[in-house]
Amino acid sequence: MDQVEKVIDEKIQGKPLLTKQKEGNSKKLFIESYGCQMNMNDSEIVAAILAEEGFNTTKNLEDADLVLVNTCSIREKAETTIRNRLKKYNAVKKVNPKMKVGVLGCMAERLKAKFLEEEKIVDLVVGPDAYRDLPNLVEEVEAGRDAVNVILSKEETYADVSPVRLNSNGVSAFVSITRGCDNMCTFCVVPFTRGRERSRDPQSIIEEVRAMHDRNFKEITLLGQNVDSYLWYGGGLKKDFHKASEMAQATAVNFAQLLDMCATEFPKMRFRFSTSNPQDMTLDVIHIMAKHKNICKYIHLPIQSGSNRMLKAMNRLHTREEYLELVENIYKIIPEMNLSQDMIAGFCGETEEDHKDTLDLMEKVKYSFGFMFAYSERPGTLAAKKMEDDIPLAVKKRRLQEIINLQQKHSLYRTKEQVGKIQEVLIEGTSKKSENEWKGRNTQNTVVVFPKEQYKLGDFVNVKIEDCTSTTLKGTAVGYSENN
Ligand code: SAH
Ligand code: F3S
Repeated sequence: MDQVEKVIDEKIQGKPLLTKQKEGNSKKLFIESYGCQMNMNDSEIVAAILAEEGFNTTKNLEDADLVLVNTCSIREKAETTIRNRLKKYNAVKKVNPKMKVGVLGCMAERLKAKFLEEEKIVDLVVGPDAYRDLPNLVEEVEAGRDAVNVILSKEETYADVSPVRLNSNGVSAFVSITRGCDNMCTFCVVPFTRGRERSRDPQSIIEEVRAMHDRNFKEITLLGQNVDSYLWYGGGLKKDFHKASEMAQATAVNFAQLLDMCATEFPKMRFRFSTSNPQDMTLDVIHIMAKHKNICKYIHLPIQSGSNRMLKAMNRLHTREEYLELVENIYKIIPEMNLSQDMIAGFCGETEEDHKDTLDLMEKVKYSFGFMFAYSERPGTLAAKKMEDDIPLAVKKRRLQEIINLQQKHSLYRTKEQVGKIQEVLIEGTSKKSENEWKGRNTQNTVVVFPKEQYKLGDFVNVKIEDCTSTTLKGTAVGYSENN
């Protein structure tokens, strides 16, 4: 029988599970992802590429012919977690010796062929720009040879690959719009593992969103290491923009324009984006957010430190004052906006004074949420080469704890602001705590829990907020929102 592409919509406990599988595929792929949302989306791209090669995904490690792990290098701990996971694969391989194991993503790019020596279980090493080569590489591995491709690309955006939505709730999905990063923050390994920055054709983005819209998805998060730096001028690296023809430069599409296009074309869908680097964020984006009800009023706006001295050492190309001015303008244009942060505690040379600057900046911004880390030196980065990782672990941990404690206080401040209000919530699934309650998120990206009543997964519902913790809002639905 011909391999006929088929979309299987399984209804499991009222939750549509969308898996694009190919009829007739006999081999089984087990794929798991660590790290950022970009990795989760890349795994969906990989599953789509391998669906053409006879692989359907399985959730059962023991059944797999091919096991792929999409890896993260951002901190040492992320790499340790993955090495431990490889031990688990090893145990399974003892029972099923035909099973092949591949490593994808940032650790693959960082360690390259060294991986094959260090971890005997690994047969395949593939960097983030080489997934299109997977069919050839898998063939090599099936023939009993190790295979490695870690070539970084100037053009690859996987624009034409329609991702298989793994672990999807059928409501919200990620769509990648840029790849790589040119910012060269001195602590960060991403520019080395994901290469130079390039943007994806806006038409292909719109078409992917349309496909999700037609499958009844309701919320799209536009993804990139640095989305505000999005710039499409016909293809090619961001840093080569100045070499493009006058015509290409004049007709280029920037991030504010892309957001405007998405929100206008799909008024019934909600849009989010991540991540923004403050140095590339323009007020144009904020004005477009204000113009469209369907762009969520939430920005993840990492700063890493509140100290000018640290920002400079980190090669973040803005000052604390410029950041605070940006934040003030954002709150002025969109008063209900919530902002979240990434912070690094104990970067090279950080003094108590620098740390206090971070706490002080947090007091001024009052973020709704944060991802906070102790500095972890990464081989190959400028900080590793040129700066001393001189803050004792105990001091890093204490400072980190102070940042986390303050963040918790501010998260509660922000959730308390919502109590008493009626907010539009998109239902994303059943609450973890109770079968009788839905969970969804409001425009500010805060989780809202409320009784199910007659509402369904994927509905936009107006919820009266009655109570809160620092992470969750509780309420009661008062009806469908006009968006429904
Ligand atoms: N723009 C990216 C940022 C990637 S890294 C994005 O899309 O999220 C995510 C966060 O990890 C950074 O903002 C930073 O706070 C943290 N991080 C990166 N390198 C780190 C390091 N060497 N040690 C500790 N935290 C780090
Ligand atoms: Fe890393 Fe800085 Fe880019 S944190 S991903 S180099 S914006």
